[in-house]
Amino acid sequence: METIIEPFRIKSVEPIRMTTRAEREALIEEAGFNLFHVHAEDVLIDLLTDSGTSAMSAAQWGAMMQGDESYAGSPSYDRFEAAVRDLMPFEHIIPTHQGRAAERILMGIVAGPEATIPSNTHFDTTRANVEATGAEAVDLVIEEGLDPSAEHPFKGNLDAERLEALLSDPEVHVPLVMVTVTNNSGGGQPVSLANLRAVADRCRAHGVPLFLDACRFAENAYLIKQREDGYADRSVRAIVREMFSLADGMTMSAKKDALANIGGWLALNNDDWAQEARNQLILTEGFPTYGGLAGRDLEAIAVGLTEIVDEDYLAYRMASTRYLGQALTEVGVPIVRPVGGHAVYLDARRMLPHLPPLQYPGQSLAVSLYTTGGIRGCEIGSVMFGRQPDGSEQPAEMDLVRLAIPRRVYTQSHIDYVIEVIEDVYARRDALPGYEIIEEPDQLRHFTARFHPLG
Ligand code: F0G
Repeated sequence: METIIEPFRIKSVEPIRMTTRAEREALIEEAGFNLFHVHAEDVLIDLLTDSGTSAMSAAQWGAMMQGDESYAGSPSYDRFEAAVRDLMPFEHIIPTHQGRAAERILMGIVAGPEATIPSNTHFDTTRANVEATGAEAVDLVIEEGLDPSAEHPFKGNLDAERLEALLSDPEVHVPLVMVTVTNNSGGGQPVSLANLRAVADRCRAHGVPLFLDACRFAENAYLIKQREDGYADRSVRAIVREMFSLADGMTMSAKKDALANIGGWLALNNDDWAQEARNQLILTEGFPTYGGLAGRDLEAIAVGLTEIVDEDYLAYRMASTRYLGQALTEVGVPIVRPVGGHAVYLDARRMLPHLPPLQYPGQSLAVSLYTTGGIRGCEIGSVMFGRQPDGSEQPAEMDLVRLAIPRRVYTQSHIDYVIEVIEDVYARRDALPGYEIIEEPDQLRHFTARFHPLG
C-alpha cells in the first residue's frame, strides 16, 4: 500500500478553533507581525516547534500515575535511568528540567574563557551556554550542510579535517567536542555513523571527549538505516547503541525524541565531571534522583524512550515529513533538500528574491502563512541571527522558515491543508512585502521584536 497511515488511533482530542483570514490579519498586526506574540488558540496548525509538543500515548499517561514523588531515591528515577541506559550506556545519568539545563551544567564544568567548543552546528541554546562561560563556539559542519539545495544524504556531518586542524593547533584549547544529532540549526539533517566514527577517532587520538547533543537521536538513527550503506538490515535500537558507544557523554532534551512534554538529562562516563555536575544540579535543578522534574515526568520519559525507537512509528514519522517536502518540491517551492527528520525548511530567500535579506524574507513568508491559513512556522534567518555582538546588522547565512512537525499530533489531512496554504502563498509570492523592525531588545530579538510591513 502507498498510503502511510498513522500507527495509532486517537483517544483524546484537542479542538482547533477556526479563524477567518480577516481575523488573522488583525491578530498578526496586534502581535507586531511577530508569531511568538500570537496566542496559540489563534493558530490552526502550530508548526513553531516539535519541542515539548508531542502527543503522549495511553501507556505514558498510565505510567504517570505510577510516578513516585519522593525527594530522594524515587523508583521513578530508577525506571528512567534504566530506560536511558538501555539505549545510551553511560555511567552517570543526571536528569534536568530540559536540554539547556544539561548544557549549562556541562559547559559550566568544561568550558570557560580559554576554551573552544566545536560542533557540527551548535543549537542556539548550546551556543549561548558555551558563550556564557566566555568560551568560543565553533561550527564545523561540512560545506554541503550550508547549501540548501545540495543533495547530500548526511548534511549534518562534521568536517573531520577541519576538526583535526583545530585539535592539532597548540594555541587552541578544546575540552570537548559536540555533535548535534540531527543537526537542527542546519536543517534537521542527519549525521552518518561513518562520520561519527571519524570524529570519535580524532577525538580519541587527541584525548578529547566527544559528546552528542542527542535531542533527535532516534530520527538520526532511522535516517542512518535508510541512507547509510550497510545499515538497512540493522535495527534502529542497534544503530542507536552504536551511535552512543562512540561518545563519552550526551546532553538531551526529552521534549523531542523522548516523547515527553518536559525534561532532559546529562549523561557521561567521567566520574569527576559527574560529581561536579551533581553538585551544580543540587544548586539549581534539584536532588540527583529527580533533577528539575516530577517523578511522573521521569515515568513519561521512560515509556517514551521505548516508543520512540519503534520502527513503525519512525517509518510513519519520516514518511510524513518527507510527504510534505515532496509535495512542495513538486510544485516548485524551494526547500532545504533532502528533507531531514523533524521539519521542512522553506528557503524564503530563494522563494522571495525580490526581498533583500535585511527586509527579512523569512519573516514575510512566515507572516503570510499565518494570515493565509493560520499556520505558525518559525523564521530561522536574518531576524534570528542578523544582529551582531558589535551592534551592526548582517544577513544570516540562509533565510529559512522552519515548519517543525509535532510528534503524533497532526494527521495527513492536516498536512494536506498545510500544502494547500503554501501553494496559495507561493502563487502570490511576488506580492509579499518586506518588513522593517520597529522595536527590538538587545538580545534574542526574534522572540519579542515588533515589525512593520514596507510599502
Ligand atoms: N539542542 C537542540 C539540537 C535543540 O533543538 C534544542 C531545542 C535544545 C538543544 C535545547 O533543548 O529546549 O529542552 O532546552 N530546540 C527547540 C526547537 C527549542 O524548537 O528546536 P530544550
